[in-house]
Amino acid sequence: MALLLRAVTWGLLPWRSHCSSAPQRGLSKGFVEALEAVVGSPHVSTAAAVREHHGRDESMYRCHPPDAVVWPQNVDQVSRLAALCYSQGVAIIPFGTGTGLEGGVCALQGGVCVNLTHMDRIRELNPEDFSVVVEPGVTRKALNTHLRDCGLWFPVDPGADASLCGMAATGASGTNAVRYGTMRDNVINLEVVLPDGRLLHTAGQGRHFKKTAAGYNLTGLFVGSEGTLGLITSATLRLHPTPEATVAATCAFPSVQAAVDSTVQMLQAAVPVARIEFLDEVMMDACNRYSKLNCSVAPTLFLEFHGSEQALAEQLQRAEVITQHNRASHFSWAKEAEERSRLWTARHNAWYAFLALAPGFKGYSTDVCVPISKLPEILVHTKEKLKASGLTGAIVGHVGDGNFHCLLLVNPDDAEELQRVKTFAEELGRRALALRGTCTGEHGIGMGKRQLLQEEVGPVGLETMQQLKVMLDPRGLMNPGKVL
Ligand SMILES: Cc1cc2nc3c(=O)[nH]c(=O)nc-3n(C[C@H](O)[C@H](O)[C@H](O)COP(=O)(O)OP(=O)(O)OC[C@H]3O[C@@H](n4cnc5c(N)ncnc54)[C@H](O)[C@@H]3O)c2cc1C
Ligand SMILES: *[C@@H]1O[C@H](CO)[C@@H](O)[C@H](O)[C@H]1NC(C)=O
Ligand SMILES: *[C@@H]1O[C@H](CO)[C@@H](O)[C@H](O)[C@H]1NC(C)=O
Ligand SMILES: *[C@@H]1O[C@H](CO)[C@@H](O)[C@H](O)[C@H]1NC(C)=O
Repeated sequence: MALLLRAVTWGLLPWRSHCSSAPQRGLSKGFVEALEAVVGSPHVSTAAAVREHHGRDESMYRCHPPDAVVWPQNVDQVSRLAALCYSQGVAIIPFGTGTGLEGGVCALQGGVCVNLTHMDRIRELNPEDFSVVVEPGVTRKALNTHLRDCGLWFPVDPGADASLCGMAATGASGTNAVRYGTMRDNVINLEVVLPDGRLLHTAGQGRHFKKTAAGYNLTGLFVGSEGTLGLITSATLRLHPTPEATVAATCAFPSVQAAVDSTVQMLQAAVPVARIEFLDEVMMDACNRYSKLNCSVAPTLFLEFHGSEQALAEQLQRAEVITQHNRASHFSWAKEAEERSRLWTARHNAWYAFLALAPGFKGYSTDVCVPISKLPEILVHTKEKLKASGLTGAIVGHVGDGNFHCLLLVNPDDAEELQRVKTFAEELGRRALALRGTCTGEHGIGMGKRQLLQEEVGPVGLETMQQLKVMLDPRGLMNPGKVL
């Protein structure tokens, strides 16, 4: 029972729908009518099924449905919705594409979920300035499809086809971050509706410069704010020229240590890799099955290089020397677009490949990030801990950034197993902190890592964050229960 209670406190139990029986925490009829007056009645729903769909993300956190879902059509409506909710003391939860892995959209106190996907315009494209302005309904793939013919692309690529504003909200990254940076490096300006309805342009309206030294970095404050400070209604993003040529490669290693040593050595030798991803043998096996690959079942690196034909030849040669020095085998290059795409699609689908190992089970993903010199140590240790824990897990990582995920399978009906997963995840988080890293490289704090955040930033760090939160959201109505 104690275990069960603890699991409930962690917000894990049960995933199977509690939602339909969840009490309607009561928005008055008058309030729902006021929402309808802002967005039009077809764009408001209080139906149980709709609320349930908006009360969960892709994580194993249980569903907490909001009391109502609204679909604003433009920023003016978002402003009026926020002002209305705020004046009535109703919680507001921004909703992107719901692919988050930390329960970010769970409506812990009910309230109004704002599904922003109807706002899906690309408002402005400035090819010469390498910038674009997108609304919250635009996903990373939709943007890249739009950019296809203009020689530019947006490199930040979480496995899921997430909304770009949601990615800004979580400080997301992906496989290209080692070369092109994360959302933190690629957001230039944000348009934000503050909780009271006012409109903020974090870098000044319409501005899209390469650099600035003008005052506090408000853009940086909203990147990674996870919907707790305001609703992002558009993002100005940095674009990059499409590489002239691209080559991908896979290679298998005799041990985790050898694969990670290769990574560290490649970075130290300043080989300009665009992607360098690690998959352990469990993950590799899962990907072979799920994505019909034919890779050796061994610790593996997926690599990619971008540049001119000439530069590529040199990069490849240097990478091969380093991996061979670490006893890599099965080196295979993929030059054709189709073959590369097969490889990276498999990598992006690693989460689903892992879940497919045990139908009916749920997944939990840890997300620590450490200084690159500590990566071999923590990876090898995690692998040993995983074996000793008796849990089913696999490791996949953006190792070029010192960031990796230990994915864990859990039986949603087993409170004891849930507790073991929680303990494992917390211990791993603390180990990363001890190595001067962070408990989350890219998924965010959400519901489950608030304690670790406190330990990470310390009392004054936390107090400063709390003060910022109170200043922007004095009534605590923006996505309550997350981050702090
Ligand atoms: C298969 C798979 C692979 C993934 N791989 C990666 C990866 O490699 N790297 C990575 O970083 N993440 C990864 N993720 C996690 C997820 O895709 C990212 O966290 C993504 O940024 C979430 O975007 P979203 O639009 O789905 O946000 P949601 O899940 O809708 O919301 C996430 C949080 O952001 C807030 N939010 C969303 N939109 C807004 C907005 N417009 N304004 C204010 N707040 C907002 C929400 O309130 C919530 O707190 C993966 C997820 C899956 C399912
Ligand atoms: C949000 O709204 C869009 C557009 O109507 C819809 O396609 C999407 O499924 C909604 N999200 C959820 C979780 O239902
Ligand atoms: C401010 O933060 C944004 C988003 O993290 C970042 O892209 C930008 O470079 C930062 N600006 C400065 C001047 O540091
Ligand atoms: C898979 O790889 C093995 C050796 O690596 C090879 O013998 C076999 O033909 C391959 N199968 C397919 C379907 O490509």
